[in-house]
Amino acid sequence: MDAFIIKGGRPLHGTVRVHGSKNASLPLMAAALLTDSPVTLHDVPDLSDIRNMTRLLGTLGCETSLKDAEPSRPLTIHATDPSQTAAPYEIVKTMRAGICVLGPLLAKRGKARVSMPGGCAIGDRPVDLHLRGLRALGAEITLDAGDIVAVAPGKDQKLIGGHVFLGGPSGSTVLGTANVLCAAVLAKGQTVIESAACEPEIADLADLLTQMGAQIQGAGSPRLIIDGVDQLSGADHRVIPDRIEAGTYVCAAAITHSTITLENFPTDALGAALDRLNAVGVEVTPISTDGQPIDRHRGSVTVKTDDTLKPIQVFTQPHPGFPTDLQAQLMSLLCLADGNSTITEKIFPDRFLHVAELLRMGANLTRNGPSVVITGAPKLIGAPVMASDLRASAGLVLAALAAKGTTTINRVYHLDRGYERMELTLQSLGADIQRVKEENL
Ligand code: UD1
Repeated sequence: MDAFIIKGGRPLHGTVRVHGSKNASLPLMAAALLTDSPVTLHDVPDLSDIRNMTRLLGTLGCETSLKDAEPSRPLTIHATDPSQTAAPYEIVKTMRAGICVLGPLLAKRGKARVSMPGGCAIGDRPVDLHLRGLRALGAEITLDAGDIVAVAPGKDQKLIGGHVFLGGPSGSTVLGTANVLCAAVLAKGQTVIESAACEPEIADLADLLTQMGAQIQGAGSPRLIIDGVDQLSGADHRVIPDRIEAGTYVCAAAITHSTITLENFPTDALGAALDRLNAVGVEVTPISTDGQPIDRHRGSVTVKTDDTLKPIQVFTQPHPGFPTDLQAQLMSLLCLADGNSTITEKIFPDRFLHVAELLRMGANLTRNGPSVVITGAPKLIGAPVMASDLRASAGLVLAALAAKGTTTINRVYHLDRGYERMELTLQSLGADIQRVKEENL
């Protein structure tokens, strides 16, 4: 296994281009199961989760080809063998997003067997809302040996449009909305999804599906109206930039009090995060490049930070609220603010594995159920720490960039699931970060 060794205290400078979104790419890739024609996606990031999804689609009869040498790295997925309908545990267990093949398989092939994804470090993560939504479209769903077994109704094995409410205790469900949306586009008649997830990744999926011939109204809003069509065509689509990677690099600049430029930056998708960061003293300013008008979806921004970081209160919420996937990164930043901050986790109340590791670096944190009080300290101190999940690991990298001395972060394979070659990106900005084999430490 790999580890990072980071010597903190180096200012960052330069320009980084944000990659395409992991969380958008995964359901987009699964949507290729909905058509017999090839679907080409541009800007899919080079990450282990993406490679696992490619592997999963391979077991489901898809041929994939990646043109690695081209700048947008086009990935073409062609579902050529519709006889395969089983998503095996060996792959789904590596990546919860494996569940998003369920809706497309059921809609196009009339049946699916998908291993029930387990819990993970950030909580139990049930899929009851996914199943409730698919049942509302007529699917018969049972559990067998840890697998979800779903069959579409009737002799023709076609789903039937229906009214679906996808609200749960923590708001809507992102991948649940992706699943039901993909199921509904080929269902007979009209489907209305109430309390749909409004995340930009869902709007991007609706964009691709629309390009494939689907009839969808309300993309990006909590009410989706879908008129089923008989078949979908292929498409050529560019994935939206990764708002979480973008937000992470903003926090990297802020925690080191550096000025950097970020390209392919999704300003509008980060409204709540930029508002909270602005309250801390971080200024993210869209800029025009090459005389072009400012682009708030894929434009460039500069990041600058005040000398003193101000404390703030934050609640993670479904989009357009503050994203839970930036909670750990913000916490690291607030460890160095001048006063007491509070973060309350409203999506995954146990998503605080980074707290114990930050304590090892000298942070002052008090957890109380779903909230953490962060008492700003003048400095963090390098220490050996353990990455526990994807975003917690990113939070630790940020803390290490600002810390006095050397931090060793073990198990960075979590980071590799969501950040494309993070150490190279940070090196290009001037950070002192090395990837090493843990056994060589
Ligand atoms: C997606 C993201 C993940 C992000 C999360 C919340 C991907 C690949 N992953 O995960 O990075 O942290 O959204 O923004 O896009 N819930 C239920 N029943 C369900 C489904 C979810 O109760 O059937 C609950 C969850 O426990 C959680 C909340 O709903 O409290 C939101 O989860 P959900 O939006 O489904 O997360 P994912 O789509 O799995």
